[in-house]
Amino acid sequence: MKKINAVLVGCGGISNAWLGNKTVKEKVNIVGLVDLNPAAAEAKKERHALTGAAVGSDLEAMLKSTRPEVVFDCTIPEAHCATTVTALRHGCHVFGEKPMSDTMPNARKMLAAAQKADRIYAVMQNRRYNTEIRALRRFIATGAIGNLVAVHSDFFIGAHFGGFRDVMDHVLLLDMAIHSFDQARFLTGADATSVYSHEWTPKHSWYKSGPSAAAIFEMTGGLVYTYQGSWCAEGCPTPWECTWRLIGEKGTVLWDGAKQFRCEIVTGETGFTRQVKPKTVPRTFPKSHSQGHSSAIALFLESIRKGGVPETVCTDNIKSMAMVHGAVQSATTGKRVQLNA
Ligand SMILES: NC(=O)c1ccc[n+]([C@@H]2O[C@H](COP(=O)([O-])OP(=O)(O)OC[C@H]3O[C@@H](n4cnc5c(N)ncnc54)[C@H](O)[C@@H]3O)[C@@H](O)[C@H]2O)c1
Repeated sequence: MKKINAVLVGCGGISNAWLGNKTVKEKVNIVGLVDLNPAAAEAKKERHALTGAAVGSDLEAMLKSTRPEVVFDCTIPEAHCATTVTALRHGCHVFGEKPMSDTMPNARKMLAAAQKADRIYAVMQNRRYNTEIRALRRFIATGAIGNLVAVHSDFFIGAHFGGFRDVMDHVLLLDMAIHSFDQARFLTGADATSVYSHEWTPKHSWYKSGPSAAAIFEMTGGLVYTYQGSWCAEGCPTPWECTWRLIGEKGTVLWDGAKQFRCEIVTGETGFTRQVKPKTVPRTFPKSHSQGHSSAIALFLESIRKGGVPETVCTDNIKSMAMVHGAVQSATTGKRVQLNA
């Protein structure tokens, strides 16, 4: 397959996961690197040996001079809307970092721009692309624990980033919980219909706003999903993928967010607690869908070349985004919020 020409915008920390992965090295020709800080773009050019890439701070000018087919948006959340809309206006397909946008009106604007341009705009949700979550989703779909009735996830990491996260509003819900909410939709196949949430900034917080939050979602099919998390919890961290408890009509499965599953299915019909038996969750999944950024980018490129729609196309991802902004609204108003992407 002929390499696809791409410009990458936003040459900070996460751009290494894009520029350094196998898919991009094999299938993409990076023709331009853009950052408000040109030195950051220069540094990525050197680090990833992108000798042919132009470097600049003006996206519009870069698109005019390099005419790429694709733009990778690795800028900060507040810049996603302007970056994506500009790229779409230049006829590019866009694959952008999460979260889709800083506000719901901006998310809708981006979706409308993609439809008007008749181009694909998809969002990076790399935490859908690992072996265990894929295997777990397949296991749930077999009906092994019956219909799901409740899903619970925990996220606790004392993360000291510095940079934009320290000063942004609603930092956990906006910049991290989007992964967990999207994982919940992915695992259950259900969408959120309402949310009630609480957000707080602990006394010892090194973030300005909202590093801790809890949220209760009602989902389609009568399912309830609860989330609790913190980015300023020192000690005993969970994995970045969260720890999960999924309860079905016939049993429960736990995922430690890493390599371990534990599942028990009810077998008894009498007694205070019914007898259960363990069940194995098969832990394999094809590499094509389990290599994080590399898999997500490969599948995005395939949909451009062969047709089809990426899993995290904006028309779908806006439903995960609505969970985030609904949780923010609920936390701000103290009221339950009905969701309508
Ligand atoms: N998928 C993941 O697991 C994951 C992990 C980390 C970060 N992210 C996401 O990636 C994005 C970037 O995060 P980061 O950690 O790399 O941040 P960062 O601060 O390290 O880098 C962002 C870069 O974007 C540049 N920038 C900002 N506005 C710009 C604009 N309008 N035009 C061009 N360049 C601009 C900044 O100068 C900076 O170099 C965020 O949306 C973040 O949520 C995703």
